[in-house]
Amino acid sequence: MMPSTELLAAARRARERAYAPYSQFHVGAAVETEEGAIVTGCNVENASYGLSICAERVALTRAVAEGHRAFRAIAIAGPEGVETPPCGACRQFMAEFNDGMRVSFTSSDGVIETTLEKLLPHAFGDFRANV
Ligand code: THU
Repeated sequence: MMPSTELLAAARRARERAYAPYSQFHVGAAVETEEGAIVTGCNVENASYGLSICAERVALTRAVAEGHRAFRAIAIAGPEGVETPPCGACRQFMAEFNDGMRVSFTSSDGVIETTLEKLLPHAFGDFRANV
């Protein structure tokens, strides 16, 4: 397991590529795969605002497209001094792959280290598993 500082550093670098001309809120994310690889993403907005996608889902979809499906951790870097936890949609998106993954995000007072279990208790799962 790599230190969360390394993953956060990758998220901060990815944040520099954010495309956020509408909100000006730049976010970067980095996921650690089971193999120890790092895959990053940034938020990508659109003139049709609702089409905008968060950095976390960009990192995860990119990682899946690159052949990864098992993730240990995700780090999220927002603007300096602003708490940037993952939104509800991204939490559910993460739960698809690992409902207990480690989650680190920048906050007004350093970095918050938690788990997806704590951020999204009772995540919705595949109902077909119970029939
Ligand atoms: N955003 C993220 O990329 N990740 C988060 O964790 C919070 C919000 C983006 C979405 C939108 O482009 C901008 O930040 C403002 O909400």
